[in-house]
Amino acid sequence: MPIRRKPKMSAQASLLPGVRIDKTSNRAVYLQLYAGIKQLILEGVIPAGASIPSPRLVASEFGCSRHTVATAYDFLIAEGLLSASHGVGTFVSELVETALKAAGSNPSAGPTDAFIRQSQFADILERGRIDRDEEDPLQIFGAPDAECFPYTLWTKIYASIWSNPKRELLHVTSAQGYDRLRSAICTFVHGTRGIRATPEQVLITSGTTQSVDLLLRALLNPGDEVWVEDPGRPKAATLVSALGLKRVSVPVDHHGLRVDVAEQLAPDAKVALVTPSHHYPTGATLALERRLHLLAWANRSGAWIFEDDYDGELIADGHPILPIYSLGKNDRVIYLGTFSKSISPQLRLGYIICHPELARRLVRLRFYVDYFPSMNLQPVLAEFIEKGHLDSYVRRMRRIYRERQSTFVAAIEATADGAFEVFKNAPALFQPLGLRDERIGNNDVILAERARKLGIPAFALSSFSFNVKPRPGIIIGTGRLPLERIPSAVNRLVQATRDMQNIITAAEESS
Ligand SMILES: Cc1ncc(COP(=O)(O)O)c(C=O)c1O
Repeated sequence: MPIRRKPKMSAQASLLPGVRIDKTSNRAVYLQLYAGIKQLILEGVIPAGASIPSPRLVASEFGCSRHTVATAYDFLIAEGLLSASHGVGTFVSELVETALKAAGSNPSAGPTDAFIRQSQFADILERGRIDRDEEDPLQIFGAPDAECFPYTLWTKIYASIWSNPKRELLHVTSAQGYDRLRSAICTFVHGTRGIRATPEQVLITSGTTQSVDLLLRALLNPGDEVWVEDPGRPKAATLVSALGLKRVSVPVDHHGLRVDVAEQLAPDAKVALVTPSHHYPTGATLALERRLHLLAWANRSGAWIFEDDYDGELIADGHPILPIYSLGKNDRVIYLGTFSKSISPQLRLGYIICHPELARRLVRLRFYVDYFPSMNLQPVLAEFIEKGHLDSYVRRMRRIYRERQSTFVAAIEATADGAFEVFKNAPALFQPLGLRDERIGNNDVILAERARKLGIPAFALSSFSFNVKPRPGIIIGTGRLPLERIPSAVNRLVQATRDMQNIITAAEESS
């Protein structure tokens, strides 16, 4: 039997100090009493074990009915804050003390590492956060110019679909993605990338990031080797390690991935994760003989090629670089497409094109980890593609991006006195620049940081290297640089480079 302590209220004028009742309030009196007493208990004013005045006394102090007070007590009993003992009275539960102690483990100090004790998976992801795209908008050098998007048109389509939605949109969901969007994607990739595929080969995802995660989990076991490009996309490389897979860093030169080196390093790898159209981030196109070599290796060893064609649709007219997927019949190639570059990363829509049987298996896996893709924008995008709007938008944007890039390159060549090596065949949305002065090249992270402070979307090329010696340089996001801002951006970049050169020279002379 718990020891019953007298509440420390005898000296107080009120039976329930601090509790106020406002009879003009919309809130019922019993709820006001309930909240007031609860606060007294949680703040420790009425301690655990203390008896609570009888409903009769409280009712007479507050000028309400006994029933009203008893109702408030019943709520508190139901919550476990009070306990009633027949014929003895009502008491603050002894458990309150324990609960308060547990709650008092200083949550305001913030959770510590020991408290959260995250998984190795999360630890590896955290350590690998070199690619800090999400944190600083200026660092999103590879983002498209979403301001040019035809929002009025998009909104009209959205309203026409969702102001009076068809039943199929409300009730039918497919973990593979909306069938009309899958068909529209088949038409779109045929037109832009020469890919022949049927809707049963297409799986809608939230983008290439999710596509790679799903595929790695569906196809590989811990310890399996994965070829990743070095330099390459840090996000993907880190995920490979976090999933317990063995990352094999493969060097990249002017003709893309060194397939010969990869085969020597890890002939039994299960996946090659590649960006053949425009190597990310240097822009090198994978040479045809290397594509054929890669395909022969995959077919021979039963490995998979994950073809990340992130800016495929934006590749300049007249110079189409066909994806590996289009090179004949290639069941070992999995094509990864995204609308993050052609429209916006905000859309969170991408797709996998693969063998129909693999697509079926991915659907089963996806059902457990992500259920199905949101239906909100899929029908809108489907109609946007079906009516040819995406084709014309992409055609317009290709022109805009190409013009911005060539204007930027011309300005660099005219003003930088050869300080930069302009990488040929750059991706649509950004321009990598080599740094000819090795002293600056070794400090490309600092230069990129200075450039960002000056409002230029810049990132150090060395940040994309893992094991292979980094190629010094910086990458400038040209996709979102309007023509009129290019001359001043280039001047600031050139000035920042000269300033750094002067600082380094002065430091060398004084040492
Ligand atoms: C190499 C590469 N592939 C694909 C993507 C697109 O990823 P997602 O479709 O998840 O937005 C990006 C985005 O920046 C990228 O850098």
